Amino acid sequence: MTVSVEKFAASNEPSYCFQATVNHVGPQIVGGRGLHIDIEKDGKVYKDILDGVTGAAVGALGWGDDEILEIINRAAKESTYSYAPTISNKSSEALAKFYIEHSPPGVFSSALWVTSGSESNENALRIIRQYYLERGLPNKLKLISRESSYHGFTLGAQGISWNPRIAPYEPYLMDQKNITLKMPVAYSYRFKKNSENEEQYSKRLLDILEKMILDNGPETIAAVIVETLPGSSLGTTPPPKGYLKGIRILCNRYDIIFYLDEVMCGTGRSNPNGKLNCWENFLDPSEGPDIQTVGKTLGSGYVTIAGVLVGPKIKDAFVNGSNTVFGGHTYSSHDFNCAVALGVQQKIARENLTANIFKMGSLLNGRLNEKLLSTDNIAGDVRGIGGFQSVEIVKNRETKEVFNSKDNIIGRLRQLCFENGLSIMGMPGNPDGTCGDRAIFAPAFIVTEVDIEKMVEIFVKCVNSFSKTLKQERIW
Ligand SMILES: Cc1ncc(COP(=O)(O)O)c(C=O)c1O
Repeated sequence: MTVSVEKFAASNEPSYCFQATVNHVGPQIVGGRGLHIDIEKDGKVYKDILDGVTGAAVGALGWGDDEILEIINRAAKESTYSYAPTISNKSSEALAKFYIEHSPPGVFSSALWVTSGSESNENALRIIRQYYLERGLPNKLKLISRESSYHGFTLGAQGISWNPRIAPYEPYLMDQKNITLKMPVAYSYRFKKNSENEEQYSKRLLDILEKMILDNGPETIAAVIVETLPGSSLGTTPPPKGYLKGIRILCNRYDIIFYLDEVMCGTGRSNPNGKLNCWENFLDPSEGPDIQTVGKTLGSGYVTIAGVLVGPKIKDAFVNGSNTVFGGHTYSSHDFNCAVALGVQQKIARENLTANIFKMGSLLNGRLNEKLLSTDNIAGDVRGIGGFQSVEIVKNRETKEVFNSKDNIIGRLRQLCFENGLSIMGMPGNPDGTCGDRAIFAPAFIVTEVDIEKMVEIFVKCVNSFSKTLKQERIW
């Protein structure tokens, strides 16, 4: 029996997929080219939606890149499958070499490829555990990550994350009191005091971290984990000056692994020099992380790939110890995924698209700042680095008061943008008021100045008209 795609595309049928609204077929992608996508929603096809966020900050090359489609064909013909821990492949080696060589010399010396950002963080945690065992330090166990952070959807990754939506799963997470400790976020827009400059704010946060390390005993702390530029969790809030350097110094001082999650912000999305890593905005090569997770733009959505980059300190401890990683995922280092991701990255490097997205993203930031914050509306802050930008929505620009989460402000704004031809990501604020609703932009690296102007035009128009609606409804 052939299953008709048409039949399942009908959005008035009950859904067979266990996701989103479980018994309802939500919006479905039905086509696309470059930065434009066609979406079917409730029986209607919306053509040529301008893709401002590439799903979840995934796409670098946009839809239907002919060169990548050829690579996909070739890779599929050349290799079907092998179980990499026992029989590996050349593409995974080539991709690892590429990433290491396109990062500052000496920072990374090894890489593991997996199939999602969550899996990359799960694996980073396993690597950290074995690293200390290789060194004969079994009590170095505790992981310090941050409040309001996001490291993935699996239980280990959720254990090092925090946001109110995780709370119901807490009984299934790693011990939050004794293993996965949380330090405050670095969130200048809300938590830097007016009396402080950036460095003083960083110092306050670093003092808290150092106290946590000392109170717990440095001999029990395994790693400090941060998203270089938090994405969905806080809306691209850049670290204050000196913050990441300060963490690096503390990690050196107390023999702790410095672990950066660049699943969303890395792999070319926010590098000023046309390179791969977001941390290069803030750290010298000698201050780079000991371990780093990546994903999203690595495969640009053409393949499901993410990875763990391992620095020489960790690699050497393995090599000088057991020199062995037992086991692995069925689809680790998948030949096809690695071959396609390598093709994607080679094309990005050859066409200097990382430099393009940094320039275009900075333009987006400038235009949104200028157009939104000069008039009275619900935009409170525009922030981000390169191709990863956010607008935080507030009820009161002076006090930064957030909207009541029941008002579904970002859901409504996102829908309005969609009806006007623009796709963005909308993240709800924290119910306790520690973070407002955020509109997030992460376009494909091929975005042009014309596309950016169009995005700004639609978004600003929607924010202004939605602000008026909220006034009429007496919500704003
Ligand atoms: C910083 C960060 N880490 C990890 C993940 C998890 O990645 P995935 O959804 O591919 O499992 C995400 C996803 O958005 C992320 O933003």
